[in-house]
Amino acid sequence: MLVLIVAVSFAFPAFFFYYYYYYGHEHHGKNVPPGSFGFPVIGESWSYVQALKEERGSEWIQKRVAMHGNVFKTSLMGSPTVIVTGRPSNKFVFSADDETLSVKQPPAVVMLAGKHNIFELTGPRYKLVKSVVLSFLKPEALQEYIGPMDSLVKNTVKHTMKVKDTIHIVPFMKKLTFNLTCSLLFGLHDEPTNEALFDDFSDLFKGLWSVPLNLPGTAFRRALRARSRIARRVVLIIKGRREKISEGVLSAKSDMLSGLLAVEEESTDSTSSTLSDEEIIDNFVALMVASHDTTAILLSLLVWKLARDPEVYQKVSQEQTAIIKERHEKSKGELTWSEVQKMKYTWRVAQEMMRMIPPVFGNFRKAMKDINFGGYNIPKGWQPGWEAKGKPSVEARKTDGEDNKMSGKREEQEPPRQKTSPEEDVHLVSLALDSTMVKEKEKLKKVTIVTIRNVTKGIVDR
Ligand code: HEM
Repeated sequence: MLVLIVAVSFAFPAFFFYYYYYYGHEHHGKNVPPGSFGFPVIGESWSYVQALKEERGSEWIQKRVAMHGNVFKTSLMGSPTVIVTGRPSNKFVFSADDETLSVKQPPAVVMLAGKHNIFELTGPRYKLVKSVVLSFLKPEALQEYIGPMDSLVKNTVKHTMKVKDTIHIVPFMKKLTFNLTCSLLFGLHDEPTNEALFDDFSDLFKGLWSVPLNLPGTAFRRALRARSRIARRVVLIIKGRREKISEGVLSAKSDMLSGLLAVEEESTDSTSSTLSDEEIIDNFVALMVASHDTTAILLSLLVWKLARDPEVYQKVSQEQTAIIKERHEKSKGELTWSEVQKMKYTWRVAQEMMRMIPPVFGNFRKAMKDINFGGYNIPKGWQPGWEAKGKPSVEARKTDGEDNKMSGKREEQEPPRQKTSPEEDVHLVSLALDSTMVKEKEKLKKVTIVTIRNVTKGIVDR
């Protein structure tokens, strides 16, 4: 016992000393940005994750900006980090080439999403995976999804209304977007498998927003285990999919998973190489992550806006009703691509929501070499983090106003700001109605759409 106590009392100070020596002094004389690395290993991850969960992410950053300026150092998700804020910073991050800043994720995220995922790839392998992803997200491909998407949304709304009096928007959107992604992007139609994947991904998503400690009982460990279960499941799916492709039942064009299975990298010596199971699993996980919370947040925010702003609701409703009315005269089919094109005001509301409350709070890069920015050195290997700042400052809005003189009148484009704050709005789902659902309208009025006070918290605390 005594030996243990002595060992622990020695190990702790030694560890702290190593940590601060490594992070603090290794770069001594390099003029790294001011700030604090927080605790060893976890750095400032805990307070950062807490802030994000409480929708105080910007506040967390602003507090440090007030102390240290627009560029400050910290340690997040297992990596020394430099948060860069403000317009010049964003310009710097998004205009840097791959040799300067690479879109690498923090080590903890890589452990969950996999080292072969698209956000980690560079060179030919990146181009290969990106080509498959883009082929399923380009407008021509999206047109194919509209009909099935419309059916799936309507069926889900109808089914949910049958079994529930109250629809909680955040969980509803999370499930809806997950099912849409499984079915349309990945061609996964087996309900029990999708249910199991949903549960596992819910654990994995929580891990992405957790302190990266692989210890019993932590969210991060649960996420790692969920990732293993997902991988085992996807291996089986891949096996079945390969068989169907070889039988000619499915092709590279059927869905993104089949596309990833069929794609080949051409090399100069006329050999080609396909993606391994591991590469496919990693990209499946990463694409699920990239597509899921983003769309679920945006759709939740849209409902939230419609519930709280009668003027916007009225205009969106008018636009949707006009489209449905026109359709009644022509056909009684599903939603079409040309109808989506007519949803100009609805789309502007969505864009405005993304501007005010960006679904992606920010992201990280990795410095591929020592960089100089804002008068500071960012050492090679550190991760610069950018913030998508919602509700731009008055100054920025003035500049935006100037910019928009060229493209049109912003005031006309912008939906009015929130005016009232009713807790619910019974008509919201009716926007998704077409002729087949008009009869359901009365029933819909009984459905309470519970808007959420804190959308991002709802997403993180799934
Ligand atoms: C409202 C919905 C969405 C928003 C707001 C959004 C936002 C973003 C942002 C900000 C980035 C850049 C990240 C960075 O540079 O650090 C990004 C990249 C990416 N997103 Fe989305 N996204 C959305 C939907 C989707 C969907 C549905 C998919 C489909 C799978 C997707 C796949 C990707 C991929 C693959 C990348 C990486 C692209 C690359 O590195 O070349 N996103 N997204």
